[in-house]
Amino acid sequence: MNQVQLSSLEYHRQTEYRRNSMTGHSLNWASQPDVYKDYNGISPIPLFQGKPLENKDLRQMLDKKSPLPLSDITFETLSDILRMTSALTAKVRYPGQDFFYRSAASAGALYPNEIYLAHDMIPDLDPGLYHYGIKKRALYPLRRQKVLQPVLTATGFQEKTTVVASLLITGIFFRSSWKYRARAYRYVLLDAGHLLENLILSLQYLSIPFSVHYRFHDREMNQLIGVNGKQEACIAVVHIHDNSRPDQERKREELLPLPEEILLSSKVSEQEVVYPEILGIHEAGMDDHPGSAGIGAPLEHDLGVNVQHWQEVGPIGNRTDRVLYPDLLYRRRSKRNYVPRPMQQDDFRGLLDLVCASAGFIDRQTDRAENIKIGFLANHVEGIQHGFYLLETGKRKFGLVQPGQMTGFMTDACLNQDWLANASVHFLFLANLRFLDRHWGARGYRHAMITAGRIGQMIYLGATALNLGACGIGAFYDDEARAILDLNADSSLLYLVAAGVVKRM
Ligand SMILES: Cc1cc2nc3c(=O)[nH]c(=O)nc-3n(C[C@H](O)[C@H](O)[C@H](O)COP(=O)(O)O)c2cc1C
Repeated sequence: MNQVQLSSLEYHRQTEYRRNSMTGHSLNWASQPDVYKDYNGISPIPLFQGKPLENKDLRQMLDKKSPLPLSDITFETLSDILRMTSALTAKVRYPGQDFFYRSAASAGALYPNEIYLAHDMIPDLDPGLYHYGIKKRALYPLRRQKVLQPVLTATGFQEKTTVVASLLITGIFFRSSWKYRARAYRYVLLDAGHLLENLILSLQYLSIPFSVHYRFHDREMNQLIGVNGKQEACIAVVHIHDNSRPDQERKREELLPLPEEILLSSKVSEQEVVYPEILGIHEAGMDDHPGSAGIGAPLEHDLGVNVQHWQEVGPIGNRTDRVLYPDLLYRRRSKRNYVPRPMQQDDFRGLLDLVCASAGFIDRQTDRAENIKIGFLANHVEGIQHGFYLLETGKRKFGLVQPGQMTGFMTDACLNQDWLANASVHFLFLANLRFLDRHWGARGYRHAMITAGRIGQMIYLGATALNLGACGIGAFYDDEARAILDLNADSSLLYLVAAGVVKRM
């Protein structure tokens, strides 16, 4: 049977939560997915434990325009990149087993994303394709042949490049759909954004040149990694460049077939359920064919709301010296213990500044072309009137759309997660979904959600640095959120990240 293809707008609408039509869903613990990929019969190669890393100012890292060329990317550097991208950072003891939280936030701590490495030039590591096993902090060799050329071809690179390695982020859909059902595609992409931001920051920290690719040939890429695009699919690709090397010319080798063990490793539960909506949106966005759903859609990214008065984000006080990376990564957690005390103006402007810098940083890497709009609801913020504001990240300005105390209503819309009412600010990631469809076809949904996740991760890190709490929120009654913000019928809230003063860190 042919899969029904869905546009961004159709998928988002079909997976809305509505207050009076929520069907009860009790988790089937018998089908709980495994959060770690494992490969029987493949011996893992342990990564370097690594020396403690010197802290750097995160804010300055973002402004660094062109990272220094690195003469050699070694196995040790690679180990550092991977440990800064994804590490186990907290343990909870349950009867019979320990559960580990990680350095990137993930909806429901379901960790749907995986990381792969393709390289042919890192010393002390045979050329090939590897899976990063976070549990053992090790690489699992999946292909022991040169695979970088096909990865480059799938991302549209010509014959010669300075690329020496690529890191690929995938999503395993059932890990999230076990809990969130058809809505899970939202979370798989947002989570991928959180993880991708950690990866990019690690490269920026190490001054390693890179390029980020949300557009690639899906089928080629999935086949190369040995995933079928239905249970697990590639979502984002990061190329690592070594500008000190002359352009590398590679011959394409014929790919050898992968063993069955590898092809079956995307299966994370004995009782997986397939949600047609997830395949419908993902496949509609495959291979970057522009969809037809956007024809006649707005040319401007219009949410249907207007700013009454703009103000500058302004000077950011002396807070940034505390924004120390990578220390922050290990301290970041989702916080829900907000107290109704105002966020200091300096801290708030520090966060706004970081969001603007982060959006600008992303713009320089991808053709973001405004795939999302960012706003916030001010609740308890020193010197800032209550209300709904939009941010102009490029111009470092924010403006009031609608005055009034709206975080209480938004808290109700967020499935009555009552602790949200005490957060100082609700950051909002918004999009006109028909605009996304017009510009990128259904793939625009991936661009927007990944971007929202990336900036969401940055808010978490910034809040941690400022001794504030943050928490991502993907669960909301979509129609209520749209009505509170008075968005037009084609626009929606994609993601919310609360931040504020907490009882204890
Ligand atoms: C996309 C996304 C959506 C989330 N939605 C919610 C939510 O609706 N409610 C909530 O309490 N936490 C939410 N969280 C926070 C996760 O539950 C949290 O990241 C996870 O439990 C891991 O904990 P940690 O962030 O402390 O590492 C969300 C996180 C992400 C990344």
